[in-house]
Amino acid sequence: MEKMVSEYKIAKEIFSLGKDILLSEEAGRMKKFTQHGTTTVFEHCVSVAKYSLIFAMNLETLFGIKLDRRSLVRGALLHDYFLYDWHEKDNGAHRLHGFTHPGRAFENAARDFDMNDKERDVIRKHMFPLTPVPPRFLESALVCIADKWCALCETFKVDISSYIIYRVNMYRALASGDIKAIKGQAVASVEA
Ligand SMILES: [Fe+2]
Ligand SMILES: [Fe+2]
Repeated sequence: MEKMVSEYKIAKEIFSLGKDILLSEEAGRMKKFTQHGTTTVFEHCVSVAKYSLIFAMNLETLFGIKLDRRSLVRGALLHDYFLYDWHEKDNGAHRLHGFTHPGRAFENAARDFDMNDKERDVIRKHMFPLTPVPPRFLESALVCIADKWCALCETFKVDISSYIIYRVNMYRALASGDIKAIKGQAVASVEA
């Protein structure tokens, strides 16, 4: 397990796992559309990838659960690849956006990118429980949670990723013995 996590390491991992998506002209089209507040769909997808990865690191650190980070990140980057402005009324065509956009995102992604089963599931199930079929994989469930979390953060303009990263690093330092807990408090180890 790598010891320290940082915003830089997370950005590097997202880029290395999804650079073909991030740099593609097709995915770049998501920059034209707004998702929540002033956040574009592209920024939202990167944010969901980032929080999904942080949540995955928490699961790994606290419970030793290993996730397929590649599928997690790539699915998150494409989960809202629906490529239209859902705020436009468009004669009522987008009225059911909440229910229908996972299907549209999936069709677009299947046309433009190679995907595995997990990535497909991430995209199709990310609106659960609004869409009734639950996620099949832990990766899909994590993106589903990260998506809702990011929607809240974007709407209310908050970002606590630094705090979550700090918690991951503290748990890792405790697990590795670099710091020890005394009466529930983490303190730096004085042992050599
Ligand atoms: Fe969505
Ligand atoms: Fe989303």
